[in-house]
Amino acid sequence: MSLQLYYKKPSPETINAMCRASKSLRTTSRSDQIQKTQEKITHFVNHEHVKLVNSGNSAIMAVMSTLKNKILIPDEGGWVGFKKIADLMGLEVVYIPTSQGIIELDVLEKYLDNHRPEALFLTSLAGYIAEQPVKDLFELCDDRNVLMVEDASGAIGDPEKRLANGEHSHVIIASTGSPKIVNVGNGGFISTNDYKILKDSKNILNSVKIDRITAAGIYEEINHAPHILNSTINACQKMKKEFNNAMHQDKRGIVLALIVDDPRRVGYIIRKNIMAENRRVVTICPDYNRTLSSAVCFELKNLDVNCLKSGIVEKIIFTIKNSLNDY
Ligand SMILES: Cc1ncc(COP(=O)(O)O)c(C=O)c1O
Repeated sequence: MSLQLYYKKPSPETINAMCRASKSLRTTSRSDQIQKTQEKITHFVNHEHVKLVNSGNSAIMAVMSTLKNKILIPDEGGWVGFKKIADLMGLEVVYIPTSQGIIELDVLEKYLDNHRPEALFLTSLAGYIAEQPVKDLFELCDDRNVLMVEDASGAIGDPEKRLANGEHSHVIIASTGSPKIVNVGNGGFISTNDYKILKDSKNILNSVKIDRITAAGIYEEINHAPHILNSTINACQKMKKEFNNAMHQDKRGIVLALIVDDPRRVGYIIRKNIMAENRRVVTICPDYNRTLSSAVCFELKNLDVNCLKSGIVEKIIFTIKNSLNDY
């Protein structure tokens, strides 16, 4: 018998809010809903300006459209869209070597001095697996006038305020698609204190507008972000402690990565033993979006928050341990 879990879905309150928004399409103004949601996001990310867009990739594209020179991205554990969109925008990309996804300060310092990039793009959690030292990286970038862009799709609502905090990111972008921390199925946003970035990307922003139903969904779902993120981090920490082959034992994350010799085989067994409504909860690595090590990832971030409670997490641990033994 396999362990049956639930895949992450928007909360009932969010679905209700989206239904209400669609029923009142004739009677309410699009801009009011969008303004209201943008204003709310400013309080979560500590930035003055927020612009909602139709996806995380659109947010990345809008920011990249304001750049002319080369950009730095992590050599693993980033988001594959960084390179793809930079290519589309004709921006040169330099990969910065990392320690299994984590950018080291001395390496960044050397790369900033040698390559003189215009911007650094990184995700708050390398591969969703481990937290980047965002504040320290920001201070280095800020000191050298390099724009730091944090993709905080996996970290909105950080209770520790270390990630997705505009006090230490020039620009935050996030996807609110599925299955992200703000999980609405669609949409994304850009936030910054530098209004010029939004002004300079106006033409792109006009072509990637959010719809008001998604905006109404984000307005509601973002309230749940701190609880969802906290529960996912806690469950992941608990799991990391149980596996001595877990990567980045000491760092917060929302995906459990286990170093194994044969990730395909192990992944196959875990997929057979743990189901989540036939949706993806296992990632086979090497994969740039997670880690380039030989590993299998268990995607806690994709699970319904109710499956992250103590008793269930223990069952997941037990099932993964058995799967590793079977292999
Ligand atoms: C870290 C990260 N950034 C950006 C994106 C792209 O978001 P969207 O699908 O909303 O374009 C994703 C999608 O999986 C992601 O994981």
